[in-house]
Amino acid sequence: MRKARLMVDKDFTIGVIDKRMYGSFVEHLGRAIYGGIYEPEHKTADKNGFRKDVIELVKELDVSIIRYPGGNFVSNYCWEDGIGSIERRPSRLDIAWRALEPNRIGVNEFCAWAKEVGAEVMMSLNLGTRGLEAARNLVEYCNHPEGTYWSDLRISHGIQKPHGIKVWCLGNEMDGPWQIGHKTAEEYGRLANEVGKALKLYDPDLALVACGSSNRDMPTFPSWEAEVLEHCYDTIDYISLHTYYDDEEDDLATYLANSIDMDIFIKSVKSTCDFVKAKKRSKKTMYLSFDEWNAWSFYHSFISKGLDDTCEPWTTGANLLEDIYTFADALLVGCMLITLLRNVDRIKIACLAQLVNVLAPIMTQKNGPAWRQPIFYPFLHASHYGKGVSLDVRLESPMYDNAKFGDVPYLEAAAAYDRDNERLTIFAVNRNPHESILLDGDLRCLNEYTLIDYILLEHRDLKAVNSAKNPSHVVPHKGSDVKIENGHLEAIIPKLSWNVMRLGKQ
Ligand code: AHR
Repeated sequence: MRKARLMVDKDFTIGVIDKRMYGSFVEHLGRAIYGGIYEPEHKTADKNGFRKDVIELVKELDVSIIRYPGGNFVSNYCWEDGIGSIERRPSRLDIAWRALEPNRIGVNEFCAWAKEVGAEVMMSLNLGTRGLEAARNLVEYCNHPEGTYWSDLRISHGIQKPHGIKVWCLGNEMDGPWQIGHKTAEEYGRLANEVGKALKLYDPDLALVACGSSNRDMPTFPSWEAEVLEHCYDTIDYISLHTYYDDEEDDLATYLANSIDMDIFIKSVKSTCDFVKAKKRSKKTMYLSFDEWNAWSFYHSFISKGLDDTCEPWTTGANLLEDIYTFADALLVGCMLITLLRNVDRIKIACLAQLVNVLAPIMTQKNGPAWRQPIFYPFLHASHYGKGVSLDVRLESPMYDNAKFGDVPYLEAAAAYDRDNERLTIFAVNRNPHESILLDGDLRCLNEYTLIDYILLEHRDLKAVNSAKNPSHVVPHKGSDVKIENGHLEAIIPKLSWNVMRLGKQ
């Protein structure tokens, strides 16, 4: 068996793990809202039409912040269509997803649902077809206490207390030619600055996210970031990153190594921000919001499930982007979570895209059950146990050679140290499809810590999935091959596995 060495020291930290690292995303897209979180005819529906079984699963996932209402959708959205009496709300064509938007759910309903699941709302603004005025009015509608046109209108809609939304996204993927109202970096940078300036004049404590590139392969990356930030560096607080990885070639070794691409992406955006900081002689550090990340099989989503000729356009709640995630996808999501944890010095917000039915950890059936996809579990473990500070794990792992990424370590790991509760959690993935790895760990300064739990997600079939009929085909179980004594850890990390080792003070 090949060996790996790991060293963690509680004094060597990368940074504080922001609660908002465990965010998600709900877009008006396919069955995310209509037939996902909202299904008034469902037997578990509450008085507002929200499925209680879905609410319970979202609560279990402990999602801290939810980006809403898009996505590509937001770039053609009129938020005013979704307020006031439901019966009088207009139906509109959503040209982003070629759907019919009935506006049964709008900002007030969504905020009520988010409150119920215990998550903060991260509101995105339409900077595609609209601009500054619609944005400032929405902020006033949502956040101003009373005594103005928009705040009093909200009160007249039965919402006395302002929603108090702190985090606002200035548009979505504005670098993408597919985006409605797509802009050049200069056009967008100026607009983001002006909208941002107006919002901060209203409330300097708002946290503003400007659009970075839609992925690292965009031809305008990273000059897009550099130019956008030239315009709005002083106004905004975060620049966004988005990425999805696909196993197009059915090549596991490359697929699981995609978290290396994610790491390069993060480090490049960091450097670009610091370049602009240096150029501007600024003292301000720009933080990153990785507000869309996940596995996404384009083949499943676009060819076999929708957005092709078989998908009926201009309907509500079509089966769009309903990826059926496999055990292999859960391993990649685990690697991506480890990468996020290893970059918490600059990443302060991250959203798994998305939450229900669309590219989602949670699936539902009309009039039927809701269940957890395999990717649910690594996210669940990270959101529950990845708290405190992220430690600078030093790892020596055997490598494999990959045509795309060069030397790839078989083992990936991150560690979260929760000083207040005296807990250390080590997350690890073994990418090796052939054999286990013998892990030798030096947990210096944590001599009194012992193992309190070891959770393992493994499966003999990489393509294994969960379904309405068999919701527990891929589930974690308790592992046993870990020993910890006097600050020394010895573990056998099974081939192709996601591992969560939880340690506590004796
Ligand atoms: O999450 C699905 C889509 O992916 C979003 O609408 C868009 O922002 C991204 O391209």
